[in-house]
Amino acid sequence: MSGIVVHVRQGFEDDAAKELSHQLNDCGVTSRSMQAIADSAIVVVTLSREDMNLARSKLKLADLIFSRQLLWLSSFVNLPAEGDRVSSLVDEIKGPLLEISGSNAFSGFFFETPDTDSSKELTGFCKSLTRHVENALNKIKLMPKGKGASHLPRVHLVMTSNHQVLVTLADVHNSSPWTMGIPRLRFPPSAPSRSTLKLEEAFHVFLGQEAMGEKLQAGMTAVDLGACPGGWTFQLVKHRMQVTAIDNGALDEKIMDSGLVTHLREDAFAYRPYDTVDWMVCDVVEQPAKITSLMVEWIVRGHCRNTIFNLKLPMKKRFEETTACLNHLKDRCRESGKMIEVKAKQLYHDRKEITVYVAVKSVAKRSISTKSG
Ligand SMILES: C[S@@+](CC[C@H](N)C(=O)[O-])C[C@H]1O[C@@H](n2cnc3c(N)ncnc32)[C@H](O)[C@@H]1O
Repeated sequence: MSGIVVHVRQGFEDDAAKELSHQLNDCGVTSRSMQAIADSAIVVVTLSREDMNLARSKLKLADLIFSRQLLWLSSFVNLPAEGDRVSSLVDEIKGPLLEISGSNAFSGFFFETPDTDSSKELTGFCKSLTRHVENALNKIKLMPKGKGASHLPRVHLVMTSNHQVLVTLADVHNSSPWTMGIPRLRFPPSAPSRSTLKLEEAFHVFLGQEAMGEKLQAGMTAVDLGACPGGWTFQLVKHRMQVTAIDNGALDEKIMDSGLVTHLREDAFAYRPYDTVDWMVCDVVEQPAKITSLMVEWIVRGHCRNTIFNLKLPMKKRFEETTACLNHLKDRCRESGKMIEVKAKQLYHDRKEITVYVAVKSVAKRSISTKSG
C-alpha cells in the first residue's frame, strides 16, 4: 500500500482533510481514499504508488496550515499480542519502507503516537520498543552515522492502538524535525503568560534557526497589539527589541523593568506608529475578517516590515474562513503593489486559531506609461 499520514490538532481532522484534498488536486492527484476519524489527531490518505510519488515531489508541508507533520506511508503492521514485536516492524522497514524511500538507508528513527489524550498510554510502549528497533536497524546498517547521512529520509512508526502501527517515512527537507511535529519548548519561568510559547514556536517554524538571527535583532522596533499580560512582548524583549505594547489591560511589571517597553493604553484598531516598525505582532481576540483587515492596512500603508498574528477560528467552516482571510490579504497586497511572503500554520501551542507570518518583500514595480509626441 502507499499514501500519506499527517499529524494534526485533535478535533481539526476534517479541516486538515479538506485542505489536503485541495492541495492534492493542485498536485494533479485526484484519486484517493481519505480517512479523517474525528479526534484521532491524524489523517490517513491512501494513494496509488504513482500518485504518492507525484504528491511526494509536489506537496509541501509548509503549504499545509492544518498539518504539523507530513509522512509517506508504506504499510500498516498488526503487532502480535505476545512475543517478538520487533521483527515484524524491522521487516516492514527494511522491505516496503526502504523500497518506497528511494534511498538505501535512513537518517533517523521516531516511534510516536497521534497527539491525543488516549494515546498517552501508548507512549511507554513506544519508548520500550524504540531501543530494540533502533538496535536492529543499526545491526543491518540501515542507519549510518555522520553528516553525510543527514539528508536521508527518517523512519516514523506511528502507533495508533496497542496492536497497530503505521510504517511511514519523512523527507528531512519537507517535514518537521520534531517527533509528532511538536517542538519541545521550555516555558520561561519569568514569562507573564503561557502564550509566550506561541510566538516562540512561530519564530522557530516560520523563520527557522538561520533567519532568526537576521530577523530578530537587538535594537529593532516592534509593536505588540493586544499585548497584556505580556507573553509576546516578553519574546520581543528577549531579542532586545524596543517594544510599544498596546492594550488597555495591565502589563506585567517585571517586563517594564527591562527599560525596552512603552505601554500605551490605546485601541489596537486605532493605533498607528509614526515610523515603519520592524515587527508588528497581534494577538487580539476578534473576528478573523476584522483582524485580517487591520493587518492589510498595516502592510499596505507600510507601517511594518514583518508581522505575526493570530486568527481565532469560528466553530464551523474553519478551513473556508482561513482560506477567505488569506486570499483577501494576498489580493489586497497584490492590488496595492506590495510583494509579500505569507506562511500560515496551526501551531502546537495554538488552540482554536492559526498563526500567520507575513514578510513585506518590496513594492512591486509598476509599468510607467509615457506619453510622447
Ligand atoms: C489573548 S490576550 C493577549 C495575550 C498576550 N499575547 C500575551 O502573550 O500575554 C488578548 C489581549 O487583547 C486585548 N485587546 C482586546 N481588544 C483590544 C483592542 N481593541 N485594543 C487593544 N487591546 C485589545 C485584551 O485586553 C487582551 O489583553
